[in-house]
Amino acid sequence: MNKSYSYGKQYIEKDDIQAVIDVLKSDWLTQGPTIGNFEKLLCEKLGSSYATAVANGTAALHLMALALGWMKGDVVLTTPITFLATANSVLYAKAIPDFVDIDGVSYTVDIDKLEDKIEYYQKKGKKIKAVVAVDYAGHPCEWKQLRFLADKYEFQLINDACHAIGAMYKNEHHYISMYADTAILSFHPVKHITTGEGGAILTNSKEFQEKVKILRTHGMTKDENRLEKNDGPWYYEMHELGFNYRITDIQCALGISQLKKLERFIQRRQEIAHYYDSVFEGDERFIIPQCAEDISHAYHLYPLQIRFDRISITKKALFERLRGKNIYCQVHYIPIHLQPYYRKNFGFQPGDFPVAEKFYEQEMSIPVYPQLETEDLEYISSTIKMLAK
Ligand SMILES: Cc1ncc(COP(=O)(O)O)c(C=O)c1O
Repeated sequence: MNKSYSYGKQYIEKDDIQAVIDVLKSDWLTQGPTIGNFEKLLCEKLGSSYATAVANGTAALHLMALALGWMKGDVVLTTPITFLATANSVLYAKAIPDFVDIDGVSYTVDIDKLEDKIEYYQKKGKKIKAVVAVDYAGHPCEWKQLRFLADKYEFQLINDACHAIGAMYKNEHHYISMYADTAILSFHPVKHITTGEGGAILTNSKEFQEKVKILRTHGMTKDENRLEKNDGPWYYEMHELGFNYRITDIQCALGISQLKKLERFIQRRQEIAHYYDSVFEGDERFIIPQCAEDISHAYHLYPLQIRFDRISITKKALFERLRGKNIYCQVHYIPIHLQPYYRKNFGFQPGDFPVAEKFYEQEMSIPVYPQLETEDLEYISSTIKMLAK
């Protein structure tokens, strides 16, 4: 059978399967010790004081929004080039989402435009509540400058790091928890490591961590310091409305096994990206993703831009032809402000964020995952070059 290639895919090995089997044979399928062990390993790897593993990255964003106290009328900024969940988390908290265009080189938030937007709101007498900056594709944002702005204008700073586990900023893996008040991870199968579905919230704030943990399980607490009374060992109280956003021990066993291999996975992704760089660079039909000097890209995605203004095939036709060759690319992302829901409810229009819109026209995420071998890369890149005419 012919091989087929998606833009991203999990990499599961024998020891991952064994780790899951071991938990299946244990006493705890959920709410057991493996969850805490996974959280501990996340903290060790990413230099965070606290980690809370949850059902998925979207649940992590939702709990983060509630625990940060976002409310009706609060304005929260993010970029249009991210997954819907980033902006939807603002809506879950009934706050107001607004966008800042991306930088045309890093594809992350444009720092100058961010400051302009903050000042625009200031002139209207409104303070920004929070900024959710996205390390798009695995390229870290300008975190030092973001921290500077967060202190200057007193907003909460969040790292949606769903693409960026394993990336480095200023030679530091731990950057994820160094600059932002909280960071969000996803362990969906297309990400660097997987738990099937899964996500996590990282922070150095004990108070924030405690809020998130309680919200993860229905808002229930057994904490002596918070209980109004105590009827006995079974007793719990609910002081706020939470959810069942728990992850299972089965998933966390997979997560631990995968997390131990993070460096190897990232290294292979970088090798693949360098291969693509070498074949597409210098060809005027393509724009390869750039890396700032002081970062190490985690390449959750390899966002290749195609100059459709220089070739005759359309984007749609190219995608269809590639599918015919078993290459299933994807586009990351349709700018969120162009989604009917956001246009209808917030009045966004085409032209509002021109860099993001141009990027959308040209971007195509081509396959990047550790199992790809040199012959796969040759096939994928030569097919793209052959069809992009
Ligand atoms: C940037 C970003 N944020 C949040 C999410 C949501 O994560 P999940 O799919 O685990 O809910 C994703 C998932 O693709 C993402 O790419």
